[in-house]
Amino acid sequence: MKQLSILLEISAALAIARDMPTIVKTLVRHSGALVAFDSCLVALRDADGETYTVWRGDRRGEPPQHGEGLIPLPHGIAGWVIRTGKRVVLDGGSPPDPAIHSPGLGLADAQGIMALPLVGDHGNAFGAFLLLSQKARSRRHDELPILSVLAALIASSVRQVQPFAGGGQGDDFVYSLARAIEAKDPYTEGHGGRVAEYAVALGRRAGLEPAELETLFKGGFLHDVGKIGIQDMVLFKEGALTDAEYAHMKQHPEMGSMLLQTIPASDPLIPMIRHHHERWDGKGYPDGLYRDEPCVMARIVSIADAFDAMTTTRCYRPAMPVSRGLEILTEYRGTQWDPDLIGMFVELVNRRVQETGNARFPMAKDGLRT
Ligand SMILES: [Fe+2]
Repeated sequence: MKQLSILLEISAALAIARDMPTIVKTLVRHSGALVAFDSCLVALRDADGETYTVWRGDRRGEPPQHGEGLIPLPHGIAGWVIRTGKRVVLDGGSPPDPAIHSPGLGLADAQGIMALPLVGDHGNAFGAFLLLSQKARSRRHDELPILSVLAALIASSVRQVQPFAGGGQGDDFVYSLARAIEAKDPYTEGHGGRVAEYAVALGRRAGLEPAELETLFKGGFLHDVGKIGIQDMVLFKEGALTDAEYAHMKQHPEMGSMLLQTIPASDPLIPMIRHHHERWDGKGYPDGLYRDEPCVMARIVSIADAFDAMTTTRCYRPAMPVSRGLEILTEYRGTQWDPDLIGMFVELVNRRVQETGNARFPMAKDGLRT
């Protein structure tokens, strides 16, 4: 919860930043409460796509510096992260890969470097965010999930002040946040994408418009984003949760909606994030909404989420067969889930299994099935 409130604070400060130096200053001022570092660097691919520019800030109080000139893209860690879209963690213990090390960036004295991509449309990296430390330290990998959320917030903020970054109207935060959730919990790898798939298939069957399907896709992807605020010992517990742990876990829809409230243009997703654990009989959480009080998209995501959770392996149990998942959905139609939507979903999945041999609904590259 503490990490989440720091993120919310950073997000609120980034939302009012109007230029790159202010973004960097905000990161320098607030990010130290999340992770130890001495200086940070934001690198953005230039409009020509061949070079990148760097903004650097220092926690020792030196003013943010703009640029080291235009750096050709193949050079340096930042360039490597922008080209590949991958994250890099260097701990000082092992010599950095010469292919990604960058003498020209003044990083030579850094013993610890964490570098994350800033992700734009369709998951392409348009920049990089680096945290640098003078001291080597172990367990930096553990900090990647929270830093991925931070990178998503930075990407969103950068695109407010540098409209060319990321290529067009962005959904960068959807992809970055989804990566952050998956980085935190390997058991849920691919879960957001599959929930989005099932949700869009059901939404299409229920007659939603194309624009609504797009919103549904993003909401399905991000429905569990609030789990970023759940303690690891609860999230990864193999046995049953205690009452207190379960109460903590149940906060994730509210935490997710709080996080998205701070991100511009994410308003349409909030009802799905907040209400995917409501129930048809009103016994769900967090608001105890009854029947069709949650919007249809939230009711759809709830079904898609449950079906994927049942039919994939979790840390506390193995995967169920598709037929058993459908049986359980049917058993609880009208108590847990919207009976009409369950009817449509069961029919849809059964037909899909007959036609293709599995229950998946593959997406086109832009996210929605053609
Ligand atoms: Fe959830």
